Amino acid sequence: MADKIGVFVAWPYANGPLHLGHIAGAYLTADIFARYHRLIGNDVLMVSGSDSHGTPVTITADEEGITPREVFERSHALFLEGWQKLGISFDLFTHTDTENHWAISQDFFSRLLQNGYLYKETAKQIYCETDARFLPDRYITGTCPICGFSRARGDQCDNCGNVLDATQLIEPRCKLAKPGDPPHRLIVRESEHFYLDLPAFEKRLLAWLEDKTYWKPNVLAFVRNYLQSGLHGRAITRDLDWGIPIPLPGYASKCIYVWFEAVIGYYSASVEWAKDRGTPDRWKEWWTKAPDVRGYYFVGKDNIPFHTIIWPAMLMGYDPDLPLPYDVPANEFLNLEGHKFSKSEHWAVWINDYLKKYDPDPLRYLLSVNMPEAADTDFTWREFVRRNNDELIANWGNLANRVLTFTYRNFDQRVPEPGELTDADRALIGKSEAAFATVGAALARTRFKEAIGIAVELAREANKYIADNAPWFTIKTDRARAGTTLYVALRVIDNLKTLFYPFLPFSSNELHRQLGYEGDLLGKFEIKTFQETIRSHTALMYEPGQHSQKWAPSQLSSGQKLGEPRPLFKKLDEKTAEEEKSKLGRI
Ligand code: MF3
Ligand code: ZN
Repeated sequence: MADKIGVFVAWPYANGPLHLGHIAGAYLTADIFARYHRLIGNDVLMVSGSDSHGTPVTITADEEGITPREVFERSHALFLEGWQKLGISFDLFTHTDTENHWAISQDFFSRLLQNGYLYKETAKQIYCETDARFLPDRYITGTCPICGFSRARGDQCDNCGNVLDATQLIEPRCKLAKPGDPPHRLIVRESEHFYLDLPAFEKRLLAWLEDKTYWKPNVLAFVRNYLQSGLHGRAITRDLDWGIPIPLPGYASKCIYVWFEAVIGYYSASVEWAKDRGTPDRWKEWWTKAPDVRGYYFVGKDNIPFHTIIWPAMLMGYDPDLPLPYDVPANEFLNLEGHKFSKSEHWAVWINDYLKKYDPDPLRYLLSVNMPEAADTDFTWREFVRRNNDELIANWGNLANRVLTFTYRNFDQRVPEPGELTDADRALIGKSEAAFATVGAALARTRFKEAIGIAVELAREANKYIADNAPWFTIKTDRARAGTTLYVALRVIDNLKTLFYPFLPFSSNELHRQLGYEGDLLGKFEIKTFQETIRSHTALMYEPGQHSQKWAPSQLSSGQKLGEPRPLFKKLDEKTAEEEKSKLGRI
């Protein structure tokens, strides 16, 4: 029986395009993981969507003088284009401004209230007298009371990662103040809000976390640290009008806090996915407590507390029969040429810009081998060009291309008939077959670097094998032996194609056809547009339950007609690195 694998991916704030840091933080790992599970025949449901509410969106709208809706719709379109071109294979990428998501979020609110997990409290909040309004967290910066970082946000400190309450900030400043303006007058004023009673879940959270020893050390360390400082109630409503209304009379000037409703998206998007495809109950397969049902939450490290504490507590309080996260394989941060990505300082590589110029797989390769899996890593254009030319092409692309081209020309465009295999032949095939277990085990444990490392090493060994056996020479004296060597190499390349597929789906599919198979390794992603209750949107639909065991050694038959060989990757000019780097930091 197939396992039900929920691949739940952080909902990006729809306030602008995504950069490579976002991709390395969550989206690429989620996609690699989803593709691997589909290959082994599991039923994958991979969902996310635009986080359309919240102050990141309203701040951008204020800055540009347009509506929050315009900001969110523009960003949503960019996200969809990015997923499609980068091959991030969502089953559904929706957004939080759907009728379905509103209704389910309000239901979470009502039921948690009914079950006694929400309480009202008058909170002290920062009010800007200059603007005559309460300031949302993100409109406030100040010094972090925990680490002393001077540009902490009202909700969280980007330096130490701690979740903050805006009133804790030392010397808070209003972000609505224009440069050159005198500082706005901030006061603390009272406002009534609903709170999630997190302490009520403390015991259950600790018990649930007990067997999570398989979590990544960076995530476990964060959660332990968070719990040690003690849980406190968290306000889940805000004085704002861009968001989901509180489902009670008398709260018209307030709405549900974006963080409370965005995490509900994993659940509401599963419901929406099932509804859209005409199987309205099917979402339940991923939302039942059972040993073969596992939900993985792919998020960046700043999202860890929301997925390891707050969302599990909300799930427990809403319905004790719902499964809690099985794993939260959060990545650390990717830096860019030695500095943090920064929109305001124009220090970023936007994914949509990248994809206009370059192919997806070289980026997927670099971000996989250099993934910020256990610690922060750095993206440099130099390394990108070097790894593309000296690793991806020299080690993998050329191996496939040389063997295929030579066979195509000299063996009648077909896979040669092997003679008797030597020990070395058998050893290499054996190694490539054994890699399905080792790469698979690493992927299942979300250890992506380790997984791709094994495949890269195998390609190195295949190169050495080809160099040692030199079919281009033996063909002159012993055609049969050259044929055997090429047969062995093609089998190993066929295996590598599958082993690399979760990381490099575009080139693996291309190679699949060059090896003489039809279509794509795993079927096609269909891009579907359907009319949805609030507005139409596009989603990548993928049929679960239709694949079986593609994660298996090649049975390449001799005589199989090959497709026309073509290079899998393009060599990049060394100058590219300098050119791209020089654009950073400029407007
Ligand atoms: N939009 C938020 C962020 O990008 C939250 C993402 S995860 C969610 O950090 F599940 F909470 F939506
Ligand atoms: Zn102000």
